[in-house]
Amino acid sequence: MNPSRRKFLQFLGRTSVVLGSTPLLLSTTSCNEVVASEKPFPFKGIPHSLADDLVLADGLTYDVLISWDDPISSTDRFGFNNDFTAFIPFDTKQPNDGMLWVNHEYLNAMFVSQFNFGDDINKKTNEQVQKEMYSVGGTLVRIMKNSNHKWQVVQEDHRNRRLTGQTMIPFAWPLPIDGATEAMGTFANCSGGVTPWGTILTCEENYDSFYGETVHENGTSKRIFNSYYYGWDKHYNNPPEHYGWVVEVNPLTGQARKLVALGRCAHECATMHQTSDGRLVVYTGDDSNDECLYKFISSKPGSLEEGILYVANTEKGEWISLDYASQPALQENFSDQTEVLVRLREAAKIVGGTPLNRPEDIEIDPITGHVLISLTNNKPKGDYLGSILKIEEDNADKTSLTFKSDIFLAGGEETGFACPDNMAFDPKGNLWITSDISGSAVGKSPYEAFGNNGLFLVPAHGPDKGKVLQIASAPVDAELTGPYFAPDGKTLFLSVQHPGENSKSMTELSSNWPNGGDEIPRPSVVAISGAALDALMELG
Ligand code: FEO
Ligand code: CA
Ligand code: CA
Ligand code: CA
Repeated sequence: MNPSRRKFLQFLGRTSVVLGSTPLLLSTTSCNEVVASEKPFPFKGIPHSLADDLVLADGLTYDVLISWDDPISSTDRFGFNNDFTAFIPFDTKQPNDGMLWVNHEYLNAMFVSQFNFGDDINKKTNEQVQKEMYSVGGTLVRIMKNSNHKWQVVQEDHRNRRLTGQTMIPFAWPLPIDGATEAMGTFANCSGGVTPWGTILTCEENYDSFYGETVHENGTSKRIFNSYYYGWDKHYNNPPEHYGWVVEVNPLTGQARKLVALGRCAHECATMHQTSDGRLVVYTGDDSNDECLYKFISSKPGSLEEGILYVANTEKGEWISLDYASQPALQENFSDQTEVLVRLREAAKIVGGTPLNRPEDIEIDPITGHVLISLTNNKPKGDYLGSILKIEEDNADKTSLTFKSDIFLAGGEETGFACPDNMAFDPKGNLWITSDISGSAVGKSPYEAFGNNGLFLVPAHGPDKGKVLQIASAPVDAELTGPYFAPDGKTLFLSVQHPGENSKSMTELSSNWPNGGDEIPRPSVVAISGAALDALMELG
């Protein structure tokens, strides 16, 4: 659909807010005379595309910063299926030099270990499993702008390192988890967040593909495996309970810990707010059909270990406590607080958490203070196109236990996007959204109108305020993930995840991005910049 012909929804979420800035393209004088500004809005939306390319709006270009299997040091290489990114400068006075964190969510075994989907999982060798374990987790790599103003990886920096499926990571909890004080590895690292003190929160999402999941029924428990499981348990018999946590990582040292107090589920992200008295509020969503939205409120300043986890009841507008000591319903079903946190989904339903349509990324609007939550879709419930939920905490207090909620934006042909997933606000408060139409559904009903997955901009100011403009279109089978702005807003780091995911074989590739020709596709992080982004940062 041509964006110029698109009917846009009103950006109702922000209309009640008085902004300290002036409109950009048009401004109104005291006698209501409308005059043209000197600075037109720098972006025009692009049409949807099915091209095997990262297509960008005019005024933007991209450089591939790093791709799967690129060396980061003499001993380590970049992992597969990059998702969440975060750039942490070493020094705020030198914002173009620092550590880039990148999540590696999952792997395509055909590319990583040459194990084809459908082959006998019992025949996967230990060497293949080790390759797969190395391909997930996260990367820490120093990047800086060179003399040509291009971002580049600084290979061999002593802080470059990998976290993998074999890195030993302790639990930040006074009691053992399934008998252990540490877990082997992190994986399924989807989206995440950054703390006010500059550490990374990386979120273990679909962990059940790796060591399965424990299901509890009628007083007994059993381990089950989904159809996309990797069979690692045949070589390393790690318990499912060691995964599904939010993991905090120090970007300078790689030191990590699993934050048990935030509960265990298919965490998409963790988005933090610090109150004026130093306490922390962390929002996190459980990305699965009919799963819930959570909020942790620390009881002490700066603590990610002591506090109470709440689940949202969006019908009543209430955050419901998951504190074992004060919830008789939890005492009837679980033995202690640790078990409540390990079996979070069950506990949330028992106390009245509202099932949602795949709550994915969460961002706090820097202009309104509203909490935005991507609800990607829920096909069994008939929600194919998804929406973005807005939560307005009562009294504008993030520690409030009551709130109002509303739909902020709905996926559909009128807005031009479907299946919202990751979000990011740039330094001027414009909202950027990526879409996650599953690769096998792209171009098919009901997604014909949307083309490949994309990146969208919702301007916070000016005549296009509240409209949805498509800014980028992903290569074939890919999803754009992990948008993260450099401190000056003039570079957008973006993951291009799983290009060519539906390739039938190494010789029947559905994508050759980014290298073209007959090359195999490589998940990569790109640095997007250009005159349009520069101009956007001059507005608002
Ligand atoms: Fe890994 Fe919910 O996306
Ligand atoms: Ca995601
Ligand atoms: Ca985000
Ligand atoms: Ca997703």
